[in-house]
Amino acid sequence: MNNLILPSGYISESIFAKEQKLIFQDTWQFVGFVNDLANHNDFVTRLIGGKPIVIQNFKGELRAFVNICRHRHSAIQCSAKGNRHLSCPYHGWTYDSCGVARGIPNKDDFDINDFDNLSSITLLSYRVDTCGSFVFIASKNQTKSLEEHLGESRFFLAEISNSFGEKVDEFKLLKKSNWKICIENTLDSYHVDVVHKTSLANIIAQEQVKIIQQPHSHTIINLSENSDRRRCKINSLLADRPCKFNGYIHHLIFPNLTIATTQGTSFSVQSFEPIAAGLTQFTTSVFEVDYNSCPKAISTALAKQVAKYNRQVFLEDQIVCESVQQGLEKSEDSHPGLMNIKESRILSFQSAYNEIMFNHEFIKNRVNNENICI
Ligand code: FES
Ligand SMILES: [Fe+2]
Repeated sequence: MNNLILPSGYISESIFAKEQKLIFQDTWQFVGFVNDLANHNDFVTRLIGGKPIVIQNFKGELRAFVNICRHRHSAIQCSAKGNRHLSCPYHGWTYDSCGVARGIPNKDDFDINDFDNLSSITLLSYRVDTCGSFVFIASKNQTKSLEEHLGESRFFLAEISNSFGEKVDEFKLLKKSNWKICIENTLDSYHVDVVHKTSLANIIAQEQVKIIQQPHSHTIINLSENSDRRRCKINSLLADRPCKFNGYIHHLIFPNLTIATTQGTSFSVQSFEPIAAGLTQFTTSVFEVDYNSCPKAISTALAKQVAKYNRQVFLEDQIVCESVQQGLEKSEDSHPGLMNIKESRILSFQSAYNEIMFNHEFIKNRVNNENICI
């Protein structure tokens, strides 16, 4: 098969630098949850396309800026999340909701001409928008709205957000593999029987429907007979839940956000943040289901069980992803590998990736032909 991502695409630092700009700075990126930014001065910080970014609530308005002070380049918010003014911890410059330094201690000691150009004291800003519980940002170069970027996927995000309750687990892994290897691993149901023989393979059976809505994709997998039988009780205890899906659902929001749920009874959300060509910060959060008549003890216990189980699955995946990275680094082979029908979501992902990176149309036709229900 031609025109798949070549081995160099997973190991080259120059390709990595190009991705950081074209895919991670300029495309809409998931940065956190609405609940983490619910109150005035709540903030989260993220590394997006290699740039430190702060997303902060200003009296109900979400704003995003490069998290570097215009005075002498200190970080402004120094923790992953919290609640404080957007105020630099070095000399105390404080920024307003437009990113302009309005509070400058001993301002008269500066040359008055230093402030002639407002841009010299204004933080570089990003676009911010939300869909359900999910917050996204994009650089000002992005001309599409978030709604246009998400397409049909916005309905899925909005629907599951109606069910999100408390976060019961957050788990991080630093994976020694390229972010695309990690994403492709999650899109491939072919490896489940081998890698997850004692875990996921006991729960899921045949893939039912694959829906490719580039650049995103969605799959529904039937539960195994055993698992279906065991889950009857859970289903009846959570019978009134708002999202009732059949089977196991896995959804990719391009480029690096995945969401999984079994029958809408809990939700896990994963992000894969590229750190270097061969290094990815993986974060997964598990949410219990919540709705008016929901028996809280049941939904919490179920979500905690899922979180424990997920950790095993993600550790199993880490081993194979790191092995693939090593194989690519050591191989002098330029062969991109082979793919079967169970891996068609990878084709879709690679097509979307290549379109942005190289403006190629090459495998689009093939992917469209595989917009399949099996
Ligand atoms: S570096 Fe931020 S106020 Fe001086
Ligand atoms: Fe896996």
